[in-house]
Amino acid sequence: MEESDRLLSANAEMGDDEESLRPQTLDEYIGQDTLKENLRIYIQAALQRNESLDHVLLYGPPGLGKTTLSFILANEMHSKVRVASGPSITKAGDLAAILSVLEPGDVLFIDEIHRLPKQVEEVLYPAMEDFELDIMIGGENGAGGRSVRLDLPPFTLVGATRAGDLSAPLRDRFGIVAKLEYYNQEQLCSIVSRTARVLNAPIHTAAVDEIARRSRGTPRIANRLLRRIRDFAQVLNDGHISKEIAQTALDRLKVDSLGLDEVDIRYLRGIIERFHGGPVGLESLANAISEETTTLEDVYEPYLIQIGFVNRTSRGRVVTEKAYEHLHITHTDTLF
Ligand code: ADE
Repeated sequence: MEESDRLLSANAEMGDDEESLRPQTLDEYIGQDTLKENLRIYIQAALQRNESLDHVLLYGPPGLGKTTLSFILANEMHSKVRVASGPSITKAGDLAAILSVLEPGDVLFIDEIHRLPKQVEEVLYPAMEDFELDIMIGGENGAGGRSVRLDLPPFTLVGATRAGDLSAPLRDRFGIVAKLEYYNQEQLCSIVSRTARVLNAPIHTAAVDEIARRSRGTPRIANRLLRRIRDFAQVLNDGHISKEIAQTALDRLKVDSLGLDEVDIRYLRGIIERFHGGPVGLESLANAISEETTTLEDVYEPYLIQIGFVNRTSRGRVVTEKAYEHLHITHTDTLF
């Protein structure tokens, strides 16, 4: 197996279920309307000039469609996509192996690009800027070797990251930088309906609504819940996904009425019960509930802030009255 095969997964090899559900074109992609319309312009302009699309950085919480968009970009540019992930590229040579097999116009998608080591990032800079690859030949630990410069074909790097806090030199080399937003109820309903259609699963509109409401603004969660509910409908019903079946399944999956899961609840209860509702620093909270600070910050907090359950203040995190109400806890309960 070539080194590049270990580090890349080609489009055609990704035959899992999630792939088959992915929309293939911008027209099919629901939501992110401003970004979508801008991308249409950039794609058309690049195609007219017969150039590759400028490098794209997509950031935002997981599950909002960054990978899907990168596949669509490649498709709309009539090119191939190659998929790699930041944590699996550990050495400069790993990235060189990936870059050296690129063909003109390819889209290289690097997920979790914030996790590239610094020495790998440095190989990326000239590759992004001038389509050049500097590799060391011979020598040990950088001593006595000779640097060779190879020309790369024009390609488009699509980087995905949760928070957008890349190193400045890397971030500055992306010509297109876009934040993906949480989806609203109507958009999630369209996504759930579309997925149900693709899966051939009969579903009642009230069930679509219920799933959308409990999926934290996130298509990946909506689609995952739909699959599990379809299982319940198949075994406990006649395959029809009714509102009742959806509610039964969602309750059994411990997804609450707003889609909050066990970690969200531990986060909120942690602040309320151990820190009197806050303010509390992220580190102290993470220790108290045994979660990673980055997971809380990048995955859980954005949604809790979005729905107005948590505020980030200069003195730390504070739980709002709205969260107390949702958890049926009165403020005075914790003031002892
Ligand atoms: N499936 C997952 N995300 C989607 C989106 N944004 N539009 C359509 N289908 C999707």
